[in-house]
Amino acid sequence: MTVLPGQGSDENPRPGYLCIEKFMRDAVGARALQSALELGLIDDLLRQSSADFAALAARSRIDPRGLHLLLGMLLANQVIEERGGRFALSAACRTALEYRDLLEAQLDFASLVAPDFLGMFSTLLVDPQRFFETSAIFGLFSYERCFEPTPENILATRRWMHFTTVLTKYEAQACIDHHDFASSRRLLDVGGNSGEFALRICRAHAGIQASVFDLPLVCDIGMEHLRGKPEAARIAFVKAGRARDEFPSGFDTVCFKSMLHDWPDREVGQFLENAYRALDPGGTLLIFERGKFDPKSQPIPYSMIPIMLFFRSYRVPDEYRMQLERIGFRDIDIQVVQLEMPFLLITATK
Ligand SMILES: C[S@@+](CC[C@H](N)C(=O)[O-])C[C@H]1O[C@@H](n2cnc3c(N)ncnc32)[C@H](O)[C@@H]1O
Repeated sequence: MTVLPGQGSDENPRPGYLCIEKFMRDAVGARALQSALELGLIDDLLRQSSADFAALAARSRIDPRGLHLLLGMLLANQVIEERGGRFALSAACRTALEYRDLLEAQLDFASLVAPDFLGMFSTLLVDPQRFFETSAIFGLFSYERCFEPTPENILATRRWMHFTTVLTKYEAQACIDHHDFASSRRLLDVGGNSGEFALRICRAHAGIQASVFDLPLVCDIGMEHLRGKPEAARIAFVKAGRARDEFPSGFDTVCFKSMLHDWPDREVGQFLENAYRALDPGGTLLIFERGKFDPKSQPIPYSMIPIMLFFRSYRVPDEYRMQLERIGFRDIDIQVVQLEMPFLLITATK
């Protein structure tokens, strides 16, 4: 097993987008930034190199006492700087805003599920089933709502797909950097969601035709997401049924990105057996999936609350290896790619 460093080296530079983490370490600082984004203060500061308190107050809906508090919190969190009575975005914040879609999505996601953690962490520890039945995060990721195209179901599905799509936009690059897709021609992405992972792979490799296999509403929203993109003609969507159906076949590459952790071992085994059948002889199975994180290595940042709540779902590499060996895959290779937490990049050959 190869462990690839996450703190940056010539061969494996730390992905630039992780610079946003600095602004989401604690709930108070992150919430202040979220409000500054929501209330237009960040945009105001982006439009000018600096502004004094009176000018910011004149253009803001926030009353002077509120603005004083918010500016103070942003100063303490190094979102802004003050020089000679004038406020400006810090250089680090300007860089982080290059990843604004991810920053905003992570702030939204964390604030949506932070009450689960604050109110029910003890329940999660002693009664996970009850936690799952009552928590916002499991209400959000309701796959049951991905079949009937009612307006409520479409809205609910769009909401969580926004998070998975933005995360995948950035995480995909790490996978593409560490796995050479050059010999792939026909690729199946199981649980491929909005098609974002397939899109990134197809953009990097002009010779690939991809199929995304996912639940019906997810596919509909995915087709919309890809509409107008040059690679869309190379990406088909295949709708899965309620039973864990056979996959379409005839692929030289089958991928599972951040999909298998949703399922218990037995179902993971079934998905991997389906993948084996969907692959041509000599084809490659690829799993790119969060691994176990070490809670003592650093204080868990606020932005990781949504990911942390799934802590029971992440596996060690050998759990995947044993399944793959049982099914008959060979040449199993396991790398650990350090993003905000360890990702397993596992490949195996049929
Ligand atoms: C945690 S999401 C991950 C999505 C995406 N691969 C990513 O990396 O963000 C799991 C995906 O599996 C899909 N899914 C759930 N049950 C499925 C099934 N039986 N067959 C295919 N996809 C399924 C969900 O709709 C969702 O898109």
